[in-house]
Parts: sequence; C-alpha cells; structure tokens
Amino acid sequence: MPSLQELIQTHEQEINAFQPANAADLEAYRIKYLGTKGIVKQIFGEMKNVPVEQKKEAGQLLNAFKQLAEKKYEDFQHLQSDAAKKGPALDNTLPGTKLPLGTRHPLRMIENRIVSIFEKIGFSVATGPEIEDDWHNFTSLNIHKDHPARDMQDTFYVAQNPDWVLRTHTSSVQSRILETQPLPVRVICPGRVYRNETISARAHCFFHQCEGLYVDKNVSFADLKQTLYYFVTEMFGEGTKVRFRPSYFPFTEPSAEMDISCTICGGDGCSLCKHTGWVEIMGCGMVHPDMLRNFNIDPGVYTGFAFGMGVERITQLKFQVNDLRLYSQNDVRFLRQFQSI
Ligand code: DAH
Repeated sequence: MPSLQELIQTHEQEINAFQPANAADLEAYRIKYLGTKGIVKQIFGEMKNVPVEQKKEAGQLLNAFKQLAEKKYEDFQHLQSDAAKKGPALDNTLPGTKLPLGTRHPLRMIENRIVSIFEKIGFSVATGPEIEDDWHNFTSLNIHKDHPARDMQDTFYVAQNPDWVLRTHTSSVQSRILETQPLPVRVICPGRVYRNETISARAHCFFHQCEGLYVDKNVSFADLKQTLYYFVTEMFGEGTKVRFRPSYFPFTEPSAEMDISCTICGGDGCSLCKHTGWVEIMGCGMVHPDMLRNFNIDPGVYTGFAFGMGVERITQLKFQVNDLRLYSQNDVRFLRQFQSI
C-alpha cells in the first residue's frame, strides 16, 4: 500500500501537469479532485489510519495538497465564463440563415430579351466605346458640323479634346461596324448613351439604346418592316398593332418612326400614350447611300436597314415604370420587385 505521502506526491505531479483546454476539461478535473467523492476527500478519509504522532505532519501535507488542487481549479476558472459568453453550443440541425437573392436590373433584363430576340434571326452582338470621336458619333452618320443635334445643349463634350464626346446614340456603333467588318453585316448593338438633359421623371442625362444594322445585297424596306413586326410580336405578344410614320434622320433615307398600340391601355387611351392609343418605340430607315459611301461601300450593290430603340421605353411598357429616375437610384425596394421575373 502506498503511504499517504506517496499518494499525495503522485497526485501533485498529475495536478501540476494538468492543462485544461476548455470548460469541460476543467469540470472533469473538479469532479475528479474536488468533488464530494473526489480524491482530496478520499485522502482526507485516510487520516484516520495515520498514527497519532504523525497526524500533525500529515495534516499539513494534506492541507497543502488541497490548496494546490483548489488553486489549479481557480487558475482556469476563466474557461467557464468564456464558454458562457459564447452562448449555447451550435445546433447544426437548425435551418440555415437565408442569403438574400440578388436580382437582375430591369433594364438589363429587357436588354437581354431584345438581344436574344434578334439573335434568333441571325443578328450578332456588337459594342463600341462610350467616349466617341466626332467622326463615329456625328460626321460619318451625315450629321454635319451645323446640324442642330450637335448643339451644346444636348451633347457632352470631353473637356480635354473638342473632338471627343460622350456618345449621344448607339448609331455610332453602326459606323464602327461598317468601318471594320466585311459585308454582309447583321448586328444588334446595346449600350449606354448620354445627353445633356435636366433630370426628371421623363428625361435623364444617360439612358440606354439598342441599335440594329443589316447591310447586304438586296435588303429592302419590306425586310425592315418584317424584321420589326417579328420583334414586336416576340416582345409584346401577338395582336400588338404596329404603324410606321414617315420621319427624318440624317443617316437613313427613307426614315420612319415606329409606333405600337399602347400596351398599358390596349389602345383605349391613357396617360402613357397621351390618349392617342399609340406609343413610339423606335426610329428606323434604309441606310443613307452617303453613309455607305463614307465607308467605301457601293450603294448600287449594297443596301441596308437600321433601327434604334430606347431600352427605358421598352422597359416602361413591359413593367409600367413611370419615373426614369428609378432606374439609377439603386433603391432595393424598387429593384426587389423584379425578383421573380
Ligand atoms: N439614333 C437615333 C436616336 O438616337 C435613333 C435611330 C433612328 C437609330 C433611326 C437608327 C435609325 O438606326 O435608323 O434618336
């Protein structure tokens, strides 16, 4: 049988070496040494077997041992409060926290839809720079130096260089395509454009357009109409009426504006269609022979059609948004409404 002294020594070594890693380790230690059936109590129980003359010394040893055991426990008591601060243990069976789902911007949704409608009939996507030079944005499109469309009121000029503008329309991409791509070409060109307008519900200093261009041998106005009828049916559904009104653009001849029957009131008249039953959605026409000549294309051999539409207008008709400013305010209350579309 080990003597009381030996017993205490073994336990002392064990206690000195003990390093609890967490509150559970510490609790196991407490039960083992300091609990009601713990080692300290057990050794105290041995005192009755100690001969009287050794009791004093044994008592001192025992007390020292008890203090050692208690001190160790106190030294690590912070582990308990750390565990309490962390709160209850993680329950992996609970359902997870849902991450909010982002949405596509309504303008991007409509732009994607326009592009995919034209891709189905063989158009491919083309883009160009938003900072454009005079030639691509104006001159090559027959918009000469004295044309009112260049007015300082409308165009943002780049301060460093009077030859540079923020493009005022995506028609500039037509020029870039005719300049670089071999014929025939069939492109759809979405992008942002800029005009110096006072911001209001009906106007903004930047907005979005989608340009279309088709140049080949024997392209006729009938092809233009057929292509746009197809677009309107795909975008707004069967039964949407279409009409062409003669118009003027420097880069097309003849030129037209295309209206569709109002999708909001079905043609009965409302504030969107200004009680006419019709809404203008794009400008279009046959590419002007002078414009073809600007790119060394013989208008006796090649003809083409072009069109340009405002993406905001199409989006307004599809989603009944009545204030253009909403598109760029980044208000999640607005944007979240398009979550399920
Ligand atoms: N660029 C014109 C605008 O911004 C829209 C336009 C009209 C584009 C007729 C065309 C077109 O391609 O043929 O108002």
